[in-house]
Amino acid sequence: MPHSLASQNSDPSRNPAARSPKDRLIVALDVPTAAQARELARQLGGICRWVKVGLELYLVAGAAIVEELASQGFSVFLDLKFHDIPNTVAGAVRSASSMGASLLTVHAAGGPAMLAAAAEAAAAQANSPRLLAVTVLTSMDAAQLAAIGVDASPADQVLRLARMARNSGIDGLVCSAEEIRVLRQELGPAMQLVIPGIRPVGSEVGDQKRISTPADAIRAGANALVVGRPITKASNPAQAAEAILKEIASAVDETRRSVG
Ligand code: C5P
Repeated sequence: MPHSLASQNSDPSRNPAARSPKDRLIVALDVPTAAQARELARQLGGICRWVKVGLELYLVAGAAIVEELASQGFSVFLDLKFHDIPNTVAGAVRSASSMGASLLTVHAAGGPAMLAAAAEAAAAQANSPRLLAVTVLTSMDAAQLAAIGVDASPADQVLRLARMARNSGIDGLVCSAEEIRVLRQELGPAMQLVIPGIRPVGSEVGDQKRISTPADAIRAGANALVVGRPITKASNPAQAAEAILKEIASAVDETRRSVG
């Protein structure tokens, strides 16, 4: 069954918005100034629904850019990867939702008490933001994990943290395309899987390692894709986004046909 980030409803077929490819593409606005973010938003308005604000943009443009993008009609994924004591993270979740962010990240390594506090704070908001947990950063390999005292393999650690996040009331995970099938199998259809490291055929890989095309990630069971440079550095970002949306739509159709 295809999945969608927008499906607050457990049955996506009852939620028309859940069917739109626009709910499956999140454009990462990784730019150093508010002016550049505004320009990209101008070009992508009407084409894309979701944008992601990460640390680079947030630290120069702050809550104002989140509020501005939300007021323009974008759904905003505020990717600040909260990791602190439960009380502080709960407060951060409340502040982020008051800015209009619809999707937030927390570090699963913060533990079940922190995750549960985040989930509880989100649920208490008028427009509850959805929470995604980051399991093992893709920059961490077995040696990096061992250095911080984790003897498990990255794959086992991802699974452990993913199960813990689900049991703590977290809606979804950020993971690499390679992990989708196992996580989908282990965690079931309700877990939202949001996938960065997306590279359409022919685009530059840059510093990403475990990459996937948009179509392959959707076929594997992704709910939504995070795409930065293939859109933001394209000579025509709107055209690049449209091409990815088209690829997503075909992959969703293909997946639907194969299940039903
Ligand atoms: O430009 P690119 O498409 O590589 O951007 C990917 C986005 O996804 C960036 O904002 C990056 O921070 C984010 N991300 C990632 N890998 C993760 C988690 C998040 O690339 N494991």
